[in-house]
Amino acid sequence: MSIPSQSDSSAADRIIIFDTTLRDGEQSPGASLNLDEKLTIARQLARLGVDIIEAGFPYASSGDFEAVQRIAETVGASLDGPTICGLARATRHDIKAAGDALKPAAKPRIHTFLASSDIHLQYKLKKTRAEVLEIAPEMVAYAKTFVDDVEFSPEDAGRSDPEFLYPLLEAVIAAGATTVNIPDTVGYTTPGEFGALIRGIKDNVSNIDQAIISVHGHNDLGLAVANFLEAVKNGARQLECTINGIGERAGNAALEELVMALHVRRQYFNPFLGRDPESEAPLTQIQTQEIYKTSRLVSNLTGMSVQPNKAIVGTNAFAHESGIHQDGMLKNKRTYEIMDAELIGLNTNRITLGKLSGRNAFRSRLMELGFELADEELNKAFARFKDVADKKREVTDWDLEAIVNDETQQAADLFQLKRVQVSCGSPACPTATITLQTPDGALLTDAATGTGPVDAVYRAINRMVKVPNELIEFSVKSVTEGIDAMGEVTIRLRHESRIFSGHAANTDIIVASAQAYVHALNRLYASVHSQTTFKAGQPAFSAEKVTGI
Ligand code: KIV
Ligand code: ZN
Repeated sequence: MSIPSQSDSSAADRIIIFDTTLRDGEQSPGASLNLDEKLTIARQLARLGVDIIEAGFPYASSGDFEAVQRIAETVGASLDGPTICGLARATRHDIKAAGDALKPAAKPRIHTFLASSDIHLQYKLKKTRAEVLEIAPEMVAYAKTFVDDVEFSPEDAGRSDPEFLYPLLEAVIAAGATTVNIPDTVGYTTPGEFGALIRGIKDNVSNIDQAIISVHGHNDLGLAVANFLEAVKNGARQLECTINGIGERAGNAALEELVMALHVRRQYFNPFLGRDPESEAPLTQIQTQEIYKTSRLVSNLTGMSVQPNKAIVGTNAFAHESGIHQDGMLKNKRTYEIMDAELIGLNTNRITLGKLSGRNAFRSRLMELGFELADEELNKAFARFKDVADKKREVTDWDLEAIVNDETQQAADLFQLKRVQVSCGSPACPTATITLQTPDGALLTDAATGTGPVDAVYRAINRMVKVPNELIEFSVKSVTEGIDAMGEVTIRLRHESRIFSGHAANTDIIVASAQAYVHALNRLYASVHSQTTFKAGQPAFSAEKVTGI
């Protein structure tokens, strides 16, 4: 049997990268993205060279359906682009929704899943093994009526009895599954165990040569990447991962770590893929120089900051502090560095534009950076660029990215920040005066004092928006080096049990703080209050309206 829709990704001697940032990654608390943000990330994932984009869970909400459909008809329109995948539980309505949303894709894939561990069967599904053995192949066959390319996952495979997994996988492959994905759903297994699980599947599932073995894993014990690398050694050829490792709870296996481990140590992995041990050929199709940019984009749009010591993409990942290390590096870079920063697109920050640059130069540089803005967005971004260029001597690619990401995020503006004025110092009573435009177009101005200028700004905004919330994270960092650098502010706030993030960049960090806060409030407001009209002077919504989200 041939494996359809995978001519470019089924090669047994390379690793297929399945990115689930927009599905499992978006399940991180507070990481929810709007349609424009999902499209921006999907375009960047295509530039990064991922083989498959899991774009969402179409049955979960109309927003997810629309996002999968739009990604399918744009990023997924061409046979040269990535496969677009939609997730579906093993039920007819889920599978139909995925099939419908994926219709515009040149290479669509339905990923359907059903739990296989006894604990999930007993408590969650209330089904017997025999029932699962019947439903799973039936649903795979149903998915095949929509697309040729069907992936099946036995959820919680890491804690499932292998003696049950073997016949289950055999049955779904016989029903047409072209990829069987083995998830360590709760991040419980250790590398040795996970490798042995994959080896057992390879050795005991009689028709396994008709499907690709994939792995999916969560990082609850910090072992996801190590587990995957062990799986590769034992026959896995598809890795399901997310940018910056974002995802449910402790997250998913991080794409950048997997790709760079396979790249830097390719000579170690080559023999496991049947290659010449000395081969220099890459093991994945990822354009590694796009990694850093993709990481920044995902972090900015999701509000999920990257820890400074994060492997590959953390700000300290290539920094050398100790004198001994610096001395060694000057003598020979390889003394303390196993890969060049340029390989992931770091240190390629070009200074391209200045205050005399025109709209065309601005547009073409953005296109080179991979941003396609509609006219209105371009006008707004250009106005922001001019403002930044007036204040800052040199405008770098990273500044441009920060400006454009900011503008993309502002697309769903409900409240708009019109004025920020603060007075602070020592001794002084920090005071902020804020003007906001409300969703119904009214202009409101209010003032407040606080423990510092940001506190005063947030209090003034709260007096007008009246959305109950608790600020749980506030971070500021500079986009580039230098005293005139733009500052990026990322915040996370909690409303009841939900978390919303906001991000903004500006040469004035108080303004960036105000914008980030308004941005997070807009997300909160949009997600819980789409029906209710804002009336100045009244709470934006009452607590009852948000129950049941
Ligand atoms: O973690 C998991 O098991 C999943 C499945 C849907 C593959 O995300
Ligand atoms: Zn998962």
